[in-house]
Amino acid sequence: MVEITRPRGTRDIGPEDMRYRREIERRMRSVCEVFGYEEVLTPTFEHADLFRIKSGDEVLEEMYVFRDKGGRELALRPEITASVMRYYREEMKRRAKPIKLYYFENCFRYERPQSGRYREFWQLGVELIGTSRAEAVAEVISLAMECLRSIPLQNVLLRVGHIGMLRNALSLLGVGEKEQSEILRMIDKGDIESALDKISSLCCATNKIKQFSEMLECDDLSALRMHAENIGLSMQELNKLEVVASLLKSMGVDWKLDMSIARGLDYYSGVVFEIDSPILGAEKQICGGGEYNLAAISGEDVPTVGFALGFDRIVLAAKKEGVSIDGRKTTTYIIPLSDEYIGICMGMAMNIRRAGIVCHVDLMGRGLRKALSHASTIGVDYCIIIGKREVDRGEVVLRDMRSGVQKNVPFSEITQRLMIQSE
Ligand code: HAM
Repeated sequence: MVEITRPRGTRDIGPEDMRYRREIERRMRSVCEVFGYEEVLTPTFEHADLFRIKSGDEVLEEMYVFRDKGGRELALRPEITASVMRYYREEMKRRAKPIKLYYFENCFRYERPQSGRYREFWQLGVELIGTSRAEAVAEVISLAMECLRSIPLQNVLLRVGHIGMLRNALSLLGVGEKEQSEILRMIDKGDIESALDKISSLCCATNKIKQFSEMLECDDLSALRMHAENIGLSMQELNKLEVVASLLKSMGVDWKLDMSIARGLDYYSGVVFEIDSPILGAEKQICGGGEYNLAAISGEDVPTVGFALGFDRIVLAAKKEGVSIDGRKTTTYIIPLSDEYIGICMGMAMNIRRAGIVCHVDLMGRGLRKALSHASTIGVDYCIIIGKREVDRGEVVLRDMRSGVQKNVPFSEITQRLMIQSE
């Protein structure tokens, strides 16, 4: 026998983890809903070219690309933003703006797997199409933070920067667009030294390079204004960043200026942000987003802003922070004392389930003792026992598994009784 294991970088997620994940997903989804964002679902695979347009080299190298039987070159989606913008061009252009969308989908990246870094992972993301005014950017950032608060994750750090200002500063230094992306990628990886070396090789104004480097390190807005003036940047972007900052303050969202945010994907154009969960160590980034331009996909210059939360990392962080999920439902277990009562038991189970109460029926022909022991192993609250005497009297035996107390309850009252107990 060949023992086939799961592919590297993928996971099987068991029932306990699944319950935990679903509850966290539910909490975050409901935040998207109360902000008025509506869910969409896009295909698991797309034409590979969709991601070639502006996803950045890193993501391209990490893509799962394959040919289908018709010879088309397809890719498993490494992220959802490009898909949403394609969907917008194909079907949503005429909708009233702003279009407020969210998604919860799995993504695929051929990365070196480690804790918090997988080849299949889930993103909960938002794309706001039709505006990137300061209030739109601030709303999107606050939505990401509110999702995390709803879990609740306590220990998160929001960093906000402006990639448009970095690009403009590089242009003023005489760095061309292609080299800009290369330099931004180095900055994104935290390799500021190589980025500055690269700039030096392209431009000889040492004092300007120093000003750029100071801007990258800058952590407050008034200092940023000074650096921007020194470099000769227009104040338009900075003014917007300041409005975003003041709106975040109005909403009680704490943040930190980080001008070294360069994002790994090539489509970002303005305010960008990242959220970390420091408790996670190396793979601590749990969210990334910002203003972007995917006109090459959307077919028009429509302002857009969005983010994606790394769901799997958020679940890891929630566990590390000890977030507990309650919401365990009352569980019942029906035991027929002989095969001839299985039909009655299964019929009763249907009524109990339709009342919203979890109900098992013994499916293994166990005797009473073994069935009770199984019920207690799987954490059942109440057992319902049905034998000849009970059927003759139109009753069941209802056993409270915590106290061991048993009562006789008429058939017609059992569902009602369980509903009261489960309140
Ligand atoms: P991203 O930063 O590439 O942005 O991914 C968003 C989040 O997905 C990351 O912050 C991280 O938490 C999680 N993530 C990324 N790769 C992995 C992986 N291999 N394993 C586990 N988690 C991972 C985007 O994807 C953009 N589309 C976000 C966006 C939406 N920007 C605008 N709209």
